[in-house]
Amino acid sequence: MGAAVTDEELSAISDSLRAWQLGESSDGSHLMEAARHYAVSIGDPEFVAAVRLFIVEEQRHGANLGRFLDLAGVPRARSNWGDSLFRTIRYAIPRMETWVTPVVMVETHALIYYNALRRATRSPVLRAICGQILADEVTHIRFQCERIAILHRTRPAWLRLLTINFQKLIFAGVTLAIWAGHRKALRAGGYDLARFWRTGWRKMNRAWRAMSPERYRFAGPPLVRRPDCTVLPMKAPQPRR
Ligand SMILES: [Fe+2]
Ligand SMILES: [Fe+2]
Repeated sequence: MGAAVTDEELSAISDSLRAWQLGESSDGSHLMEAARHYAVSIGDPEFVAAVRLFIVEEQRHGANLGRFLDLAGVPRARSNWGDSLFRTIRYAIPRMETWVTPVVMVETHALIYYNALRRATRSPVLRAICGQILADEVTHIRFQCERIAILHRTRPAWLRLLTINFQKLIFAGVTLAIWAGHRKALRAGGYDLARFWRTGWRKMNRAWRAMSPERYRFAGPPLVRRPDCTVLPMKAPQPRR
């Protein structure tokens, strides 16, 4: 089966798609390194396995999008300012929170982006890839939000409030940067700036609620499920010594 994408569709989405494909194709080595250190610090070796599975899914997104670009005869990107900026932020401070926070923001926008992309094309291959990525990103966001809840568990309420407000500033910037870089494809998928902005904040507000430690019961084995909360599959972190 070919790419089955029209020239008109490609002209709206190809630059943007090349950038997202590059962003989805990280080898994950920095993250694995950070995850190993973090897992040791909290005494939770299973966290490394979970992160490895996460990286494999991201690489599948990159590989599938890459194959689509090849089929469509669109050269893959080697560098992109948005991808470089995103990597710089993630690597700025080698802490798990500095890595998780921008990822959950970009994955929140990925939910909008791949939905827009799916609407911007009639290509069955690309639509199927978008559907697969959308399904994965929902669980990725949950995974990141649970981790932030764990990280925030021992943080005083005032400091958490400050952290979330700081994140809101960052999210505003991320939203505008993604719009600047991908507005052509987003418009082709039915999003003008106002709708993109509104939808992004609605989804991110949901993510912020899921980051709240109060939503979870932290317990060692056996895990106890409360009717109104999600049971964390991972151990809560111990304070660093
Ligand atoms: Fe992804
Ligand atoms: Fe993801």
